[in-house]
Amino acid sequence: MTDALRRVGVVGCGAMGAGIAEVSLRAGLDVRVVVSSPGRVASASDRLLRALDRAVAKGRMTPEERDAAADRLRITVDPAELADRQLVVEAVAEDLESKRRVFKTLDAVVTDPDAVLASTTSSLLVADLAEVTGRPEAVVGMHFFNPVPVMPLVEVVRSDRTGDATVDRAESYVVDLLGKEVVRTQDRCGFVVNALLVPYLMAAVRMYERGVASAEDIDRGMTLGCGHPMGPLALLDMIGIDTITAVARSMRENSDDLIDEVPPLLSRMVEDGHLGRKAGRGFFRYDGTAS
Ligand code: 3HC
Repeated sequence: MTDALRRVGVVGCGAMGAGIAEVSLRAGLDVRVVVSSPGRVASASDRLLRALDRAVAKGRMTPEERDAAADRLRITVDPAELADRQLVVEAVAEDLESKRRVFKTLDAVVTDPDAVLASTTSSLLVADLAEVTGRPEAVVGMHFFNPVPVMPLVEVVRSDRTGDATVDRAESYVVDLLGKEVVRTQDRCGFVVNALLVPYLMAAVRMYERGVASAEDIDRGMTLGCGHPMGPLALLDMIGIDTITAVARSMRENSDDLIDEVPPLLSRMVEDGHLGRKAGRGFFRYDGTAS
């Protein structure tokens, strides 16, 4: 029998990595976060401590629990510090080579033979990450949703080489420790949610490009007409225009029939730095100026 899960690692501290670290800390786990450069240690630390403060302000944890969580957090640039982890979640940019590099490193440094090596990929195949390791049975997909502290779902993706014990451990982390729900999916491009969501988001961008309606009215169409919590353009801004562009390109490359074309407007927005909410501007403005 494997030991109870206590020691988690997260590689990357963008929106997904930070969210996964936060919910893992709030679940009482010991969390190590690996960032890509020394300059990012302070910003990752600020981001996570602010998230814990926000959880206190929202009544989701007490100040004592926040202090205990902060003590269980370590941020480092050295992947060797993941050696004793029982689960490591990779959450770096949606780029095959970057993710494969992380998996090669994890295979080299993580010593526990029962450790789970998970990827947050949303558009690549888990099998393409597993194959660079000497332990493909330990590799599983864990597709979280943005914002991680709020969205209750994680898609758990098994490749044809993922072992049963790995899937059980991944699901137990999601359900028993994080209190979220699991949808199991095959290792197919876009899994369940992105295979449905991303074509819809691309259609909204094309509709906006063609001037069919204003950004506000496209979004009002889906919030008021279909009861979605936010419209597609606001959702694109929240996900990040750079992130969704990478996801859509990767889905285009990995599947013949999901996406016809990534709208060129998205690339122009990335070049102009209109990356969405995090940049203060995307389809909408978030910096207090008029849109
Ligand atoms: N971090 C932590 N908590 C957050 C948060 C964040 N980033 N954003 C919102 N919250 C919390 C708020 O604190 C609030 O909590 P409370 O009820 O305890 O006060 C709660 O969420 C609701 O937030 P708000 O009242 O501010 O705002 P809304 O009611 O408008 O909800 C939303 C915001 C939860 C983001 C909601 O609009 C929503 O569900 N939107 C859809 C999100 C979605 O579709 N996500 C999937 C994206 S696709 C993806 O991630 C896949 C990828 O591969 C592309």
